[in-house]
Amino acid sequence: MEKRKFYIETYGCQMNLSDTEIIHAILAGEQMIRVEDPAGADVILLNTCSVRGHAEERVMKRLREMRSLKKKKPSLLIGVVGCMAEQVKETLFEKEPVIDLIAGPDAYRELPQLLVSAGQGQKGINLLLSAEETYADIHPVREEANGVSAFLSVMRGCENFCSYCVVPHTRGKERSRDPSSILRESRDLFSRGFREITLLGQNVNSYNTVVDGKPWSFAKLIGEVAEISPLLRIRFATSHPKDLSLELMHAISAYPNICKSIHLPVQSGSNVVLQRMNRNYTREHYLEKVETLRRVIPGCGISTDILSGFCGETEEDHQATLDLMEQVQFDAAFMFIYSERPGTDAAITLKDGVPQPVKERRLKEIIHLQQRHALSSNKKDIGKVLEVLVEGVSKRSADHLFGCDTRNKVVIFPREDKLPGDYVRVSITECSSATLKGRINPVSKLDNPWKVGNIGKFIF
Ligand code: SAH
Ligand code: SF4
Ligand code: F3S
Repeated sequence: MEKRKFYIETYGCQMNLSDTEIIHAILAGEQMIRVEDPAGADVILLNTCSVRGHAEERVMKRLREMRSLKKKKPSLLIGVVGCMAEQVKETLFEKEPVIDLIAGPDAYRELPQLLVSAGQGQKGINLLLSAEETYADIHPVREEANGVSAFLSVMRGCENFCSYCVVPHTRGKERSRDPSSILRESRDLFSRGFREITLLGQNVNSYNTVVDGKPWSFAKLIGEVAEISPLLRIRFATSHPKDLSLELMHAISAYPNICKSIHLPVQSGSNVVLQRMNRNYTREHYLEKVETLRRVIPGCGISTDILSGFCGETEEDHQATLDLMEQVQFDAAFMFIYSERPGTDAAITLKDGVPQPVKERRLKEIIHLQQRHALSSNKKDIGKVLEVLVEGVSKRSADHLFGCDTRNKVVIFPREDKLPGDYVRVSITECSSATLKGRINPVSKLDNPWKVGNIGKFIF
């Protein structure tokens, strides 16, 4: 019998990409195959995000585009899964009649059943959130990946309830996945040629579980994954500043193959705003963490998220954010305008009072400053020799490869005879604010002390 074809599109964060790989595995178990073109599919799934209003608008637009496919092929089933499904719930059916099924992030095991009902003309919905589901036994089909670097979810959910954020509402309780399944999957990835694993969680550094009566922290977990091979690079995202422990910093510093980069979203440089956001740290705490990071892991790359124009943000608050950026000099940042999300504490209790043009002007200033910092950080690398893991062919030129250094900086260089998955040494000769460019230089001495291949035993 011919296999049923499904097409899936992913919106939002790395966790969603990782979930798409889990969904792929679940549907492959039902003898379905993934296709790249929605026009030929029997089932179309949109794995959605709800973090900003814009993310939802894109999905609604895409669904409208799909009406014509359904007209041509009435048996086509269209499903909305992921965070927007959980956020907007059954009203999605009214908003867009083309939808046949809706499933939240903890309901993916039910997808085959939902597809059966939808095929019989009964619109299906499952939005149950679970306190236990981690999909630990499912072997994700890593088609989103480039064969070199893979995402691996180690925990799900978030209970921080930052006042602006939908994630605790869409992904439910925080739960850590059993470490033995994480280690098994990591070993398997390495043996299949992957050379980089990014351990994922919305709040990954609060990973915490108990094995044989003993606690496993995130620092312990990351050390164990790093022990798999000195040739396997480890990254992780995202860390919440309040949970960044000295133990974790020491683990990063102890293993050459744990990448020297940390994504540490600050959101704002103003204490009044941070408190209103319910972030549970102050500007001073944040700066102290950065100072400790740079002491324990010299040269560590630091990136961040900044949320501009949050409820009641004054000009003075905005200046405090710019000032914090000047102090830290982030290597990279994701910068956003605040978007009010229904159901969050901010939407219920605070007034989104900052006019849109003011938000936009502030964001522009933030982006401008960040570009200056990124460029000056990159300029400091000119003349250095960096170790780069080759990830693929550069989008702009087939004669060039790209990869990242340990700090997660993108490096582009002529390909010579190198292949994705190789480690190369690159002398940096030029840069922009977004990338470094250079030439392979195999005999030169590395300018960082974190050469892959000399692992240091780390005991907790
Ligand atoms: N768990 C991570 C980030 C989750 S969402 C953390 O705690 O940092 C990724 C980023 O989206 C956030 O860091 C924040 O900067 C941004 N974001 C979240 N909610 C938003 C909203 N309502 N409007 C605009 N940006 C938002
Ligand atoms: Fe959202 Fe805050 Fe949780 Fe991050 S830590 S996912 S910003 S609630
Ligand atoms: Fe979006 Fe959900 Fe990720 S809201 S950012 S897809 S956790």
